[in-house]
Amino acid sequence: MAGKQDSVIIAIDGPAGAGKGTLAKRLAEAFDYAYLDTGTIYRAVGARLLDTGASASDSAAALEAAHNLDPRDLERSDLRREAVSGAASEVAVQPAVRQALLEFQRRFAACPPEGKAGAVLDGRDVGTVICPDADAKLFLTASPEARAGRRHKELQESGVESIYARVLEDIKARDERDSCRAAAPLKPAEDAVTLDTTALNADEVFAQALRIIAEITGRTPIQQR
Ligand code: C5P
Repeated sequence: MAGKQDSVIIAIDGPAGAGKGTLAKRLAEAFDYAYLDTGTIYRAVGARLLDTGASASDSAAALEAAHNLDPRDLERSDLRREAVSGAASEVAVQPAVRQALLEFQRRFAACPPEGKAGAVLDGRDVGTVICPDADAKLFLTASPEARAGRRHKELQESGVESIYARVLEDIKARDERDSCRAAAPLKPAEDAVTLDTTALNADEVFAQALRIIAEITGRTPIQQR
């Protein structure tokens, strides 16, 4: 099944810590496609707001931050901080903010940078709202405990102080906010394939994803052709 655009689009959605980023990066490398972590965009808007001292629920300030977003903001080293995660999911409930960030994501998918033939996007609403015509849609999920464990380890490994119980609490709060919001709530697209990664390691998730993508699109990674 081909998408409407010439670019091949792979959409990976799911809650925090389900393994989307790890999988999406590996897929992009395997197929030589561009990669966009759409959560980074919301994190960058959240971080900008925290800088200004405005509350993340201040919709005018959030919209201004979204409009003024500088591509360099996506490179900030503090985007994985817990405070930024919380601010990101608070700005993400605001429809005007989502609308302001929509075009950037669609353009990236349809015309990937560096002339790449396709794009892998991971997030919450890639398959449902950003790229409803994506060629392959995967919805990754896992138990909150497994997801909190992974996020906790990731934070510790990157030198950020982290307490497991707080990460779990934060994941549950974000799940609630992401799933219950009116604007683009977190849910699998009707034509997405759901993959529960609770008991799988990264290699197993990658192998299953490749199998699913090959079944849906007939495409295989460059080194397997
Ligand atoms: O994926 P990540 O944890 O980096 O995303 C941070 C927050 O940004 C999420 O909790 C979610 O509220 C929001 N987000 C979103 N839509 C996306 C990606 C992220 O609402 N496509």
